[in-house]
Amino acid sequence: MPTPGNGPQTSPVHERVLESVSCDSTLQKQRLAFLPRINPLLTGPFQIREGQSTTAMYDEETIKKLFPQLYGQPTVSIVPYHGEEPILIGRRLRIGVVLSGGPAAGGHNVITGLHDYLVERNTSSKLFGFIGGPSGIVDGEYTELDAAAVKKFRNQGGFHIIGSGRTKISQPEQFVKSREVVKNLQLDGLVVVGGDDSNTNAMILAEDFKKHDIPCCVVGCPKTIDNDLRNDQVEASFGFDTASKVYSNLVANLGHDAVSARKTYHVVRVMGRSASHIALECALQTRPNLCFIGEEVELEGITLTEVVKEFTDLVVNRADIKKNYGLVVLPEGLVEFLSDVKALIAALNEILAKSPGATYEECLSALEGESKELFGNIPREFADQLILERDPHGNVQVAKIEAERLLIGMVEKELKKLKAAGVYTGKFSPQPHYMGYEGRCALPTNFDTNYCYGLGHVAGALIDSKHTGYIATLSGLTREPEKWVPAGYPLTMMMNVERRHGKDVPVIKKKLVDLDGAAFETFKAQRKSWMLSDDYRGPGPIQYWGPSADDVTMTLASEARHN
Ligand code: FBP
Repeated sequence: MPTPGNGPQTSPVHERVLESVSCDSTLQKQRLAFLPRINPLLTGPFQIREGQSTTAMYDEETIKKLFPQLYGQPTVSIVPYHGEEPILIGRRLRIGVVLSGGPAAGGHNVITGLHDYLVERNTSSKLFGFIGGPSGIVDGEYTELDAAAVKKFRNQGGFHIIGSGRTKISQPEQFVKSREVVKNLQLDGLVVVGGDDSNTNAMILAEDFKKHDIPCCVVGCPKTIDNDLRNDQVEASFGFDTASKVYSNLVANLGHDAVSARKTYHVVRVMGRSASHIALECALQTRPNLCFIGEEVELEGITLTEVVKEFTDLVVNRADIKKNYGLVVLPEGLVEFLSDVKALIAALNEILAKSPGATYEECLSALEGESKELFGNIPREFADQLILERDPHGNVQVAKIEAERLLIGMVEKELKKLKAAGVYTGKFSPQPHYMGYEGRCALPTNFDTNYCYGLGHVAGALIDSKHTGYIATLSGLTREPEKWVPAGYPLTMMMNVERRHGKDVPVIKKKLVDLDGAAFETFKAQRKSWMLSDDYRGPGPIQYWGPSADDVTMTLASEARHN
């Protein structure tokens, strides 16, 4: 493997990790042999067609100032080769790839798709994987991803081919080091596979490379199980399909357990840091008795006390018909949407930005008004979770906030009062569950397998045609994969300005649940009928062959653009 001069280094620890990876279950072996379905355009000759120049959807002037080199670039279409324009014949390329943020099923196929795009067009092209996320770029830790290295990761779950991380490249010295590494490796391109924060970082790197005349194109790929990296250009982020199917199967099993044993309330918090797409998809698939949607809670200014009341009412009403069991789903981001908790988190963010590591007592004394009162009144365990260190992008680590236990505790208190008043005579036996990490590294569904393999090709094509500061996309995703439409869009189109770590910064705008959208409308029309019934729906485990293997999520089916 090339290790130029004092430049980037291969990682012996990582080499050992790779050697120890086995892929020998019957299903894993079957999946290794699976041939992803892809638009034939991406494997044959094609042309690149540039469209109109673009603007930012929000905060246009600020974004323009922040990205003076690359702002306003045109959209890019990959179209069939008609012979009248120069055709890409497969340059010899050297490309780096990094997996950034939380794992999402399909990541390995972005890499195999990129690898195949490169070597099928020019056998002397090379792909390098940065180890452990963006810190691998800064520290110059990489491994070469040749045919042998990618072989056992085809169509497999996880991100362990190179690992991932959440380092944000933001400090001047990190940019200097990144430039050096990219120069030493003589990279023509860098593919950043990540969510909204990571793709924002990709754009910042693209701008920085351009400013310093580094001829390395940076292209992003939309990844996150949360499915909130979506907009008019990006139809889905990969990993959501697999994760929501894993959770839906398990949630349905819990519903059937509740109605079978007739003694337990299963209270399930599902992943989804800010957006409730996973919770909504699970609800549509499984029909729980109650499911909170963070975005609705926010719009209606609902407080923690009100959510507790709704849950308590459910328990009382079901007890009246002798049902002391049930199924409740909540998104992990719920706490951030409750008007009172949201205000408290914003106040805590400001305090922690000024005094990182501030203790419970220090935060309590710095808070004011209602936030101070709430912080002082919620259980200490939960208050401590609210002040845990923010992630490198300034986000509250909601995965560590046990909202299901908080709600259960508060509902129990209410029920006690109602029991004392003679209003409630039932029995509440709750069982908290958290479904998060279980869904991110599953064997990717056919959808994620095909989608990611195609995205890898699109990213390769964008770099091949010297486009930088773009995100690779495929759209028309409810159709056959062979008909998915490949394109590239400037990342600046999707940005807005948000407050992070006490500062205003450019970030790709997250797609939250659209309360006027078809998926939410369907949920809203049915949820009342689910409250007292036991009509739990069982989508079953992910299928890789057979009639349901290519089913898309209800979210995609109801909201995709059919172009
Ligand atoms: P990404 O946006 O990086 O894909 O991560 C999403 C997510 O899985 C969230 O659903 C969850 O809140 C968070 O990551 C957990 O983060 P961590 O892996 O750092 O605990």
